[in-house]
Amino acid sequence: MTNIGRLYSLLDDVRLPDALPYSQVSTWELRFLYLLGRHHLTGEDRLVELGSGGGGSTYALALGLRESPVFDERRGRLHAYDFFRVGKGTFATEKFFASGSKPAEDDSFLDDFRGRLEPFLPFLEIHAGDLWKTSDPGDTSPVEFLHIDIAKTPRVFRCVTERFLSRLRPGSVVLHQDFAGPRLPWLHHSTGALLPYIEIAGPPIRSTLAFEVVRPIPEDVLKSLAEDTCSVDEKLALISAVQERIDRDHTGGIPFKSVLEFSKAYVAHYAGDHRRAWSLAEPLIDDAYLSRTRADHFEQLRTAYDEDRAKNGGGGSRLSRLVGKALGR
Ligand SMILES: C[S@@+](CC[C@H](N)C(=O)[O-])C[C@H]1O[C@@H](n2cnc3c(N)ncnc32)[C@H](O)[C@@H]1O
Repeated sequence: MTNIGRLYSLLDDVRLPDALPYSQVSTWELRFLYLLGRHHLTGEDRLVELGSGGGGSTYALALGLRESPVFDERRGRLHAYDFFRVGKGTFATEKFFASGSKPAEDDSFLDDFRGRLEPFLPFLEIHAGDLWKTSDPGDTSPVEFLHIDIAKTPRVFRCVTERFLSRLRPGSVVLHQDFAGPRLPWLHHSTGALLPYIEIAGPPIRSTLAFEVVRPIPEDVLKSLAEDTCSVDEKLALISAVQERIDRDHTGGIPFKSVLEFSKAYVAHYAGDHRRAWSLAEPLIDDAYLSRTRADHFEQLRTAYDEDRAKNGGGGSRLSRLVGKALGR
C-alpha cells in the first residue's frame, strides 16, 4: 500500500464543518483533501492547489493542515491558483460568489474567497489570474502536493506539465480532479505515461485519482507530455494501461474502465478522426452509467461523425480515410 493508501480507511469517519464554502467537488473528495492535510503533508516543500474556485477544496485541505501535528503555519505555505473571476473561458461558476450569483459590474470573487478562507490566510498564498501568467517558469522548487482541478483544456494542461509536474519528486502526491471526465483525455494518457514513476493510491475517490511519485520522472517524458507528441494509437495504449490499474471508484458509483474507454473516443475526436471516435463510443451506449450521465457526449460524437460523413460522402474525411488505410483499419 502507498503511504496515502492508508487514508482510505479513515474516510468514513471524517466530519467536516457544515459551513464549508460551496465546492464543485464531492464530500468524499473534500474528506480526502482534509485527511491529506491532517495526516500526510508536511509543508516542507510547496503545497499547490491549481483551480481553487470558491475555496471549497482549499478550505478542506487548509483545515487538515491546521489540525496537523507536523505542518508549521509560520513556515509552510499553501499556494492557491485560480482566475478568481467568472467570464468566458474561465470554467468558473457564479456559485463561487458568496451570494451565489455575480454582482452587477464585478466579475471577481477573490474577495469572497479571501473572506471564506480568512482563518487560513496567514499560510495561504493566493495567485489570481491566468495560470500561464501567475506561475513562474523559472521556479524549480520541489512540489510536495499538487491538487489539479484546472486542466480543463490542453493549453492549461501544458502549463501544469511544464511548471508543476516537472517539480514533482519521489514522495510527492498528486490529485487529479475530474478524472471521470471523458472529455479530458490528457489526464488519462498522461497518467499512463507516468505509470513507471508513480503508484496509484487506490481506487479513485469519486472523480479524483490520487497517486504518489515513487521514482524521478525523466525530463524527456515530461517534454513529450508538454509538447503532446504521442500519436493517437500511443495515447490509446497509455489509457489502456491505466484501465488495467483502476476499476470502480471507492464509493462504487463510477465504472472507470468504461469512462476511460469513452476517453479514448475523445482522443480520436480531438484528432479529427470522427469515424474512429464513434466506433469507440458506440459500443458504450449500453453502459448504464455512461448513458445516464454522458448522453450529451454520445450526442456530440455522433453528430461530429454524421457531419463528417455528410461532408465527405460517407467514409469520413479524406485525411482520416487515408490514415485509416495506412493503419489497415
Ligand atoms: C472545477 S473549478 C475548481 C473547483 C474547486 N476546486 C472547488 O472546490 O469547487 C476549476 C477552476 O479552474 C479555474 N481555471 C481554469 N483555467 C484557469 C487558468 N488558465 N488560470 C487560472 N484558473 C483557471 C477556474 O477559474 C475554476 O475556478
